[in-house]
Order: sequence, then C-alpha cells, then structure tokens
Amino acid sequence: ARVGSDIEIRPLAKSDHTRGHVELLSVLTEAPSVSAERYVERFQSMKACKDTYYTVAFIHKPTDKLVAVGTVFLERKFLRGTGVVGHIEDIAVSKSMQGRKLGLHLINCLEEIARSTGCYKVILDCSKDNIPFYEKCGFQLKEYEMAMYL
Ligand code: ACO
Repeated sequence: ARVGSDIEIRPLAKSDHTRGHVELLSVLTEAPSVSAERYVERFQSMKACKDTYYTVAFIHKPTDKLVAVGTVFLERKFLRGTGVVGHIEDIAVSKSMQGRKLGLHLINCLEEIARSTGCYKVILDCSKDNIPFYEKCGFQLKEYEMAMYL
C-alpha cells in the first residue's frame, strides 16, 4: 500500500499532543481530553519500558495533524523459547481519511516492527465489523476475547 505525499510516517513524538493525537482516538471510543502534562508523563512512562511500546503516527503535512495512529506492544514470554508476541492496539484513522489505505499501511508498518523485533506472531482484538479489514491485512480469526472491567 502507498500513502500520498501529503502524509509523513514516523514514531509518535512527545509533542503530538498538540497535533490532535487524543482527539483522533475518538474514532475508537470515548476519548476525553488529556492535559499536556499528563500526555508527556504517559509518553515518558512508555519510553521507560525500553523496546516495548512502538506507536506509529501518520501526519497530514498540510495541517500538521495526526490522521492515523496505532501501537504494537511487545509481550515477553517464558513460552516459545522465551518468545515475544506483538499486540496491536488502538488503531485509529481519522474519518476524513478512511478508505485511503492508511489503515492497511499502518498495520503493515506495525507488522514490520513486530517482525524486525523478533515477534513470532502479532495478535489483536477487534469488533465483528472490523474482521474484513484485518483479514485484508493478513490476519485470521482465532479464539475469543474476554474482559473484566475493574
Ligand atoms: N468492513 C469491510 N472492509 C473494510 C472495513 C470494514 N469495516 N474497513 C476497511 N475495509 C477494507 C477496505 O475496503 C479496503 O479493502 P480493499 O483493499 O479491497 O479496497 C481494506 O479494508 C483496507 O482499508 P483501508 O482504506 O486501509 O482502511 P482505513 O484506512 O479506513 O482503516 C480502520 C480501517 C482502521 C478500521 C478505520 O476505518 C478506523 O479507524 N475505524 C474506526 C476505529 C476502529 O475501528 N479502529 C480499529 C479498532 S481494532 C484495534 O484497534 C486493534
């Protein structure tokens, strides 16, 4: 997949609070605003977990706003010869940019990070509606998700 020349792809930056990162997440779920201070705290705490959180941001250059974002989180295991599993989380493409293959390109980027950091698989949870999208990205349906809200 190709993205247009109006899009820059790079790791999430500490300053992306000002580029509408949290607002973009409202396509996923309720995304109440986060203060600049708390945003930076969260960013730093993720950085402190060395080689664990990889968040990729797509920036719309003309507006300097995030238009797509997603994370792969690396889980270290005792199983699989102390293997590593990539968990894809919080994939969001802004409404006005959906259908331009940004989602597909974003998943490809996260998959490549997982591959190059040595993950043996990548997994994710999604709604039934999103199954066709992830199938187009190369995923297969497996197991069930369970949750307990605390
Ligand atoms: N149902 C069926 N097909 C779909 C859907 C869907 N809901 N969404 C995308 N597709 C198809 C496209 O038609 C395209 O197919 P094609 O190659 O045959 O033309 C292919 O999947 C790739 O589509 P993209 O253009 O890359 O999709 P987009 O950029 O719109 O991103 C996404 C898809 C991420 C689901 C986006 O619509 C979005 O942000 N939605 C709201 C938030 C959301 O649901 N995020 C995912 C939550 S799950 C998680 O985070 C792990």
